[in-house]
Amino acid sequence: MQSEYLVELSNISKEFPGVKALDSVSFDLKAGEVHALLGENGAGKSTLMKIMSGVYELDSGDFFVNGDRVTDIDPRKAQELGIAIIHQELNMCAHLTVAENIFLGREKIKGGMLDQKAMNEAADIILKELKLSLSPQTVVGNLPVSSQQMVEIAKALSTDAKVIIMDEPTSALTSKEIDELFRIINDLKKRGHGIVYISHRLEELTHIVDRVTILRDGRYIKTLNFADTNLPEIISMMVGHEINEKFPRVRCERGEKLLEVKHLNAGPLVRDVSFELYKGEIIGFAGLMGAGRTEVVKALFGANRIESGEVTLEGRRLSIRSPINAIVAGIACAPEDRKREGLCVNLHIRENVGLANLDSICGPLGVINGKKERELTARAINELKIKTPSQVQSVKNLSGGNQQKVVVGKWLVRDAKVVIFDEPTRGIDVAAKVEIYNLMNRLKEQGIGVIFVSSEMPEVLGMSDKIIVMCNGRITGTLPVEDATQDKILTLATRYETYSA
Ligand SMILES: Nc1ncnc2c1ncn2[C@@H]1O[C@H](COP(=O)(O)OP(=O)(O)OP(=O)(O)O)[C@@H](O)[C@H]1O
Ligand SMILES: [Mg+2]
Repeated sequence: MQSEYLVELSNISKEFPGVKALDSVSFDLKAGEVHALLGENGAGKSTLMKIMSGVYELDSGDFFVNGDRVTDIDPRKAQELGIAIIHQELNMCAHLTVAENIFLGREKIKGGMLDQKAMNEAADIILKELKLSLSPQTVVGNLPVSSQQMVEIAKALSTDAKVIIMDEPTSALTSKEIDELFRIINDLKKRGHGIVYISHRLEELTHIVDRVTILRDGRYIKTLNFADTNLPEIISMMVGHEINEKFPRVRCERGEKLLEVKHLNAGPLVRDVSFELYKGEIIGFAGLMGAGRTEVVKALFGANRIESGEVTLEGRRLSIRSPINAIVAGIACAPEDRKREGLCVNLHIRENVGLANLDSICGPLGVINGKKERELTARAINELKIKTPSQVQSVKNLSGGNQQKVVVGKWLVRDAKVVIFDEPTRGIDVAAKVEIYNLMNRLKEQGIGVIFVSSEMPEVLGMSDKIIVMCNGRITGTLPVEDATQDKILTLATRYETYSA
């Protein structure tokens, strides 16, 4: 008999060493609906979806696809059953082209050889459908994060799966790409596909979602029709209590001038950038994805080459040629692409914290002081409430949001003068966001200067003292927060936009 459900998971449990990731959780998906799976970082969302897509085996519970029981599932079998997943973390092969990534594992073959031409043509059709101006022959490693994410989406769509799981698809996308994705989702829905949607950007739900299921700490809380609920109710079910203050801004006296950047040039996306940062000030860098904000902070941190310009910290001219110069001068940076630049994912939390703090934990002979290292790690874990069974948990086994907290946490425990956060709340749940805001405030109160790059306008408006807007590598405006509005920022952010796409 044909089931009403494309997929049914009931009473699923899954345990990892020291972690009960799922404790009797149920979830189902109908044809033609978008079902959101919501919960805090570490609630078990990705684990449940990895079970559904054959990445993990379940410990106990029942799994049905189109009414038929499924056992011994693996990723290939899931694909055959029509289940595709867009993973939370980018899973691209950086050295392969866009087309090769899209057809990875399903390569088109002709005469025993890869049929590059056929793959490029087929990829081109999918990319056009997504309104992406990408060449199928581009090597993926050369693309910005947002384009890589779109390629990941293209890959899932190319399988024509009936069930498509999207684990935080929008966390790295530009607003234009997000609109495009929503258009595609609504179209897939009309064509009878079922979509599981995971996101920490709850305001997105209104555009696409039919039902929501909430998990908390590996347990099932509730499934509701979206029309019968509202965001405050959803948040309190996710967190277990209400969250009152979304942006806990603190006011403090602006101190002396700390950092002065004059006429900085570093590649096409950093042109003649000048600004000043004071002690106890948070500068928010706003703009569209690709405006050059990340490039500015990378140049300041020594990760991108500075061509010309002056950087002065506390009146002293700096010569930043590599991150080590920046770190020694007192600049810390939590980068945007955590997996590639922010973490050693195969090392555990304590090693990651230790690496960023070697100067303070190493004795004169270069031997690591284990006690200090443990203390610093404990501080990072406590202050950011990193959810982990121990300090020596491998970072790759942490949930996405908790990985992000490690990136931020390892710098938090350093005594830096300037701390740069590039999209620090990406993939972070509502409650943890507030923890990161509180952290920025604490730094501010200690007289540290904070540079905060974010594509989420409400948080830039909610947390910054001064907002710098960029477009095409240039600063198009600086607004004191009292004068800033979303409209003003958007106008500045699109001032030099060229519609080449
Ligand atoms: N391979 C693994 N080994 C050990 N523990 C794991 C593994 N995968 C996940 N976990 C743990 O299981 C729990 C649930 O993680 P999961 O990734 O499912 O959370 P999530 O809801 O997707 O969170 P986020 O919103 O941060 O992505 C976490 O405590 C995580 O550390
Ligand atoms: Mg996850």
